[in-house]
Amino acid sequence: MKFAIVILSTLLLALPVFAAGNLAPALVPAPQKLELQAGAFQLQPQTRIVMDAAAGPTGEYLREKLHAATGYPLKAADIQPSAPVQGVILLTTSGAKATLGAEGYELTVTPAAVIIRAPQPAGLFYGVQTFLQLLPPEIYATNVVAKAAWQAPCVRIEDWPRFAWRGMMLDVSRHFQGKEFVERYLDGMAMQKLNVFHWHLVDDQGWRLEIKKYPRLTSVGAWRKQPGYTENNGIYGGFYTQDDIREVVAYAAVRHITIVPEIEIPGHSQAALAAYPELSCRGEPGYVGYFFEFPSPPLAKFPPNSCNVFCAGNPMTLQFLEDVLTETMGLFPGKYIHIGGDEVGTNYWDQCPKCQALMAGEGLKNYHELQGWLTKKAEIFLNEHGRQLIGWDEILAGGLAPNATVMSWRGVAGGIAAVKAGHPAIMAPNNFLYFNRAQAAGPGQPPAPRRVSITLKSVYNYDPVPAGLTPAQENLILGAEACMWTERLNRADWLETMTYPRLCALAEVAWSPKAARDWEQFSQRMETHLQRLAAMGVTYSRANQAEPKLADSRPAGQSEAPSGQ
Ligand code: ACM
Repeated sequence: MKFAIVILSTLLLALPVFAAGNLAPALVPAPQKLELQAGAFQLQPQTRIVMDAAAGPTGEYLREKLHAATGYPLKAADIQPSAPVQGVILLTTSGAKATLGAEGYELTVTPAAVIIRAPQPAGLFYGVQTFLQLLPPEIYATNVVAKAAWQAPCVRIEDWPRFAWRGMMLDVSRHFQGKEFVERYLDGMAMQKLNVFHWHLVDDQGWRLEIKKYPRLTSVGAWRKQPGYTENNGIYGGFYTQDDIREVVAYAAVRHITIVPEIEIPGHSQAALAAYPELSCRGEPGYVGYFFEFPSPPLAKFPPNSCNVFCAGNPMTLQFLEDVLTETMGLFPGKYIHIGGDEVGTNYWDQCPKCQALMAGEGLKNYHELQGWLTKKAEIFLNEHGRQLIGWDEILAGGLAPNATVMSWRGVAGGIAAVKAGHPAIMAPNNFLYFNRAQAAGPGQPPAPRRVSITLKSVYNYDPVPAGLTPAQENLILGAEACMWTERLNRADWLETMTYPRLCALAEVAWSPKAARDWEQFSQRMETHLQRLAAMGVTYSRANQAEPKLADSRPAGQSEAPSGQ
């Protein structure tokens, strides 16, 4: 043991992969089990990546990453059973421990070889992510970096995630971001072993998903007149074609990220109703306007009569919903479709003869039950097509659809209520995981709707499993997800600054064992991890490393957001 420590201290000088003052490699998220050994594996131009068929595109993903930074050719090849495991990086499912589960892996680094063994392809991918972090941070560079030695310390790692749902949501309705940005976002998620990208494609301020049967959703609903925007006659927006979506879904699949699209019903629907006013209670168009000018002046409210809710009593609404969900399911192969359900303004339903007639006919006592009726219709339709419904925690109010999963955003109460009712829940509480909220004070911070409230440390210390649940209820907590709402964030660099490094803390919360949570040690590992982000060219906040200063980061005159965001 002493001998190992002496060797490791020597290595410490040579291998920046170690966190300063700490013998363990600076892995984020921290693995379940790690055993350091003496020596190092050195990547060489002639190193080969060998793999079996289960590795799928992961071998090529690794080759491209290593090649980009090292310039080494690093051939990828199929396994030859008789060939020696020497000078290779081996990715294989053969001989893997089934107990590691769908995403677990074993990673063994010796001077002779790197061996990643996993029962399933996802585990091979996560083993690759860990191996990359054992190499110097410059391995994340997208251009060749001259370096004397690309070494990884010898280790034996066994690793698997604590939670199956490790998510990040991005709102592209308030401000559209093109597919290149989204793919870069997915790269950042993959590096942290996050596996669900919740794509908020639809909201009042813009409909971003091409639907062939309803072309006005994007020809009208994707564009708005934006105060302060000087190009294109002040018409601002954008949308993804179905080909764009297919490309991003495939890009995510290589990274073992499932995309959960969100189609908001029945509220947050101004953009859809601007395109198809006949789906609103009064046949009036929704207002695809905006309540913030940018960069960040005061709030302006929606016009008083603008309608943000679909007419629940109009049969055309159900038809629209089924048609849109059909095309959405055709584009997104994942199990879950998110139907929104938050912050529904019911004042229109109040005065609508069709909605009133439906409520009377179905015996619905209040508007929550009317919303519940619509949600259940959506769920039946999704279930018939082999999919599962997720909604924001408001869907609890009108009687939960039988198979629904609840996303808890107004704190944790919704998640607790859901699991107590026997439903799965995903924890995305706005007081811990809304990354659009300020993480630091002072000038130079992106605009935010709240005072400093969600620091890196508060994300790190968040636990997705609320106290007081039974073991069966705890098992229904699928995991955690952070949300990036973009009312004020129209710039890609602001989005990244608000995302990083909090995304890294989220990853550790969602992947690593709870018992291993240690802020001081995480902070040390982050020093190295930030060098990886820098090598990737990611913009991140350093202010997070300090304790929070509870000053107001909002520009003068800016008030709170109208919603809980
Ligand atoms: C939400 O923040 N309205 C889900």
